[in-house]
Amino acid sequence: MISSFSVFRVAFGLLSLHPLVHGQDTLSTDVNTYGTNSQSPYQTFISAPDLKPPELLITENAGGLSDGYLFIGLDGKPDSTQNVPCIYDMSPGPRMGTLVWTGMNYTQPFDFRVQTYKGEPHLTFFLGTLLDGYGHGSFYILNQSYVEVARFDAVGYPGLGDLHELLITPEDHALVTIYTSKQTNLTEFGGASDGWIFENIFQEINVDTNEVVFSWNASDHVAIDETYNTIANVGTEAAPFDYFHINSVDKDANGDFLVSARVTNCVYKISGKDGSIIWRLGGKRTDFDLDPAAEFANQHDARWIDSKKQDQLTIFDNGPHGDVSHSRGMLLTVDQSEKTVRLRTEFRNSHSTFGQFEGNVQAIDPANPDTNFMVGFGLEPYFTEFSSNGTVLLDGQFANATVVNNYRTYKLPWQGKPLNNPSINWDMGTGKVHVSWNGATDHAKWILYTADSADSSTWANISAPITRTGFETEIDISGADRLRLVRATAVNGAGDKLGWTDVADGNNNYVQASDLDDSQISTSDAPSSATGRATSSTASVTTSSSISTPTSSSQASAAWKTWRAPPFVINVLAIGIAFAEFRSV
Ligand SMILES: *[C@@H]1O[C@H](CO)[C@@H](O)[C@H](O)[C@H]1NC(C)=O
Ligand SMILES: *[C@@H]1O[C@H](CO)[C@@H](O)[C@H](O)[C@H]1NC(C)=O
Ligand SMILES: *[C@@H]1O[C@H](CO)[C@@H](O)[C@H](O)[C@H]1NC(C)=O
Ligand SMILES: *[C@@H]1O[C@H](CO)[C@@H](O)[C@H](O)[C@H]1NC(C)=O
Ligand SMILES: *[C@@H]1O[C@H](CO)[C@@H](O)[C@H](O)[C@H]1NC(C)=O
Ligand SMILES: *[C@@H]1O[C@H](CO)[C@@H](O)[C@H](O)[C@H]1NC(C)=O
Ligand SMILES: *[C@@H]1O[C@H](CO)[C@@H](O)[C@H](O)[C@H]1NC(C)=O
Repeated sequence: MISSFSVFRVAFGLLSLHPLVHGQDTLSTDVNTYGTNSQSPYQTFISAPDLKPPELLITENAGGLSDGYLFIGLDGKPDSTQNVPCIYDMSPGPRMGTLVWTGMNYTQPFDFRVQTYKGEPHLTFFLGTLLDGYGHGSFYILNQSYVEVARFDAVGYPGLGDLHELLITPEDHALVTIYTSKQTNLTEFGGASDGWIFENIFQEINVDTNEVVFSWNASDHVAIDETYNTIANVGTEAAPFDYFHINSVDKDANGDFLVSARVTNCVYKISGKDGSIIWRLGGKRTDFDLDPAAEFANQHDARWIDSKKQDQLTIFDNGPHGDVSHSRGMLLTVDQSEKTVRLRTEFRNSHSTFGQFEGNVQAIDPANPDTNFMVGFGLEPYFTEFSSNGTVLLDGQFANATVVNNYRTYKLPWQGKPLNNPSINWDMGTGKVHVSWNGATDHAKWILYTADSADSSTWANISAPITRTGFETEIDISGADRLRLVRATAVNGAGDKLGWTDVADGNNNYVQASDLDDSQISTSDAPSSATGRATSSTASVTTSSSISTPTSSSQASAAWKTWRAPPFVINVLAIGIAFAEFRSV
């Protein structure tokens, strides 16, 4: 067992020595489109003008990170464009914090993550209307090409599924929650005899057949007096009394369920046979003796680390309670026969963030006893990766405090294979080419080609492979004259061409053109004059990173002599420092 507070004191000392790392693409701080009453930078891209993801800011990076991409489902200002699912590259190095994918038409996603469905990784999320602490909507599953392969509703509640859970079980069933109203005599609690409560339901759904495999109603098993919530002005049909507030459901290896209810401060183990409560952990009727350090309140996201062994579980303790005024991830040691619970590790970020609502804890590699943990701070736009002993490894944020939130933050493996082509913009005036590929993960480099006509049978390269610097890579070809048309291909580490951009004519006009095969490509250093190609000695290349270095040996030639940091890198640093000094509640 580890005393978390001493660990944290040590951690702060060490972490302050580490340099800041930032995402690197172009920035805007237009307050009208991102966040409320504050400056929260979002990124813009010349080659993908529709995309406006938040600028990710990494304020501490101590190394020792797990592999994986960062998944955030933004819940921003309602009329902003900043309500999008985002995937970011978190690989150590210059690409850390850069965008991989954002899906601009999936507005206000909740519980956005990767799960295995039909044996393959898929993106899953809830979309709908955010109501007073719950949602009405539907559930989405996208394949690795970002194509919707399933969209379904809670059974019997079309368009009325709730936002708190979308878990795909090993049987490819979906666990979802529902908030509906139920008439109840509330005189005992200060309400009307014909008052209303929220009935909280969870369903296990066979997605293929749309059948309910298992369903559970809170009011059948949990009395209203288990709540810590007060009835105040609610209890009507329009505003039912929220006495339970289900916010996570998990299924264990034995077929039983683990349910977290925020306002009873309790995690319930529920029989998968008859729905009866096997035990309560926390709250007014706890079956467990909780070590005082393990107490929690208003919690979210209760999960077994190993749902067979069932000896450790994670909870996001929103708080506040007792002396604890910050939110924290908790790794608890649970002894189900002795009915004891001990705090094994606390996950507290460098800001001691209090995230009043939402939030989660993810064991990034649960099979590994030394797994790192990702904690999302819900209402506050912070996320932190911790080592297994609670040391902060990486602290990040995706907005200024309190302006946007993200229900759950995950770090997960992902391979994106978009069906759309990569994008290009060539501005002949500045001589710069910008290339990007929303959703792709496997392209390591870009190669530029030129020809005189879009259907030319021969395209000559005007660059050797150029290392991808982030979401968008900038290539300066201002030194190359007499180019008529330019297009690019994205290549993976093995040199395979993964996709071709359209053809750009230097005036923001694009011609759709089919992919080129190798017979159409010339890589000789003396292409025919018919291509109108410039000599390589006059071309220069920059990329949108001051850190990236050329890797191909040909890049050391005269053609590659100019490597410079564009001015916006400096802007990113300035904003980064402002953020680092900012502190939340
Ligand atoms: C964050 O928002 C606060 C309050 O609106 C503002 O004073 C501050 O300058 C903002 N910080 C940044 C880094 O934008
Ligand atoms: C988003 O766009 C895709 C592709 O055009 C479409 O299939 C999907 O239905 C759209 N999603 C929403 C929520 O509109
Ligand atoms: C995703 O689904 C689309 C439509 O069925 C299909 O064309 C594409 O190949 C799929 N992508 C993957 C990675 O399976
Ligand atoms: C409502 O509950 C109260 C207190 O338990 C009881 O006295 C009253 O008769 C009930 N009213 C109705 C209409 O059932
Ligand atoms: C759960 O509650 C819903 C809504 O009141 C109701 O339709 C359903 O029959 C209930 N299920 C059970 C098992 O009682
Ligand atoms: C906690 O883990 C970190 C990173 O793995 C390690 O550097 C540190 O020494 C550990 N601290 C303690 C107190 O075990
Ligand atoms: C074109 O590609 C070839 C083969 O990769 C390379 O040797 C040559 O330097 C490239 N040309 C330019 C202008 O970079």
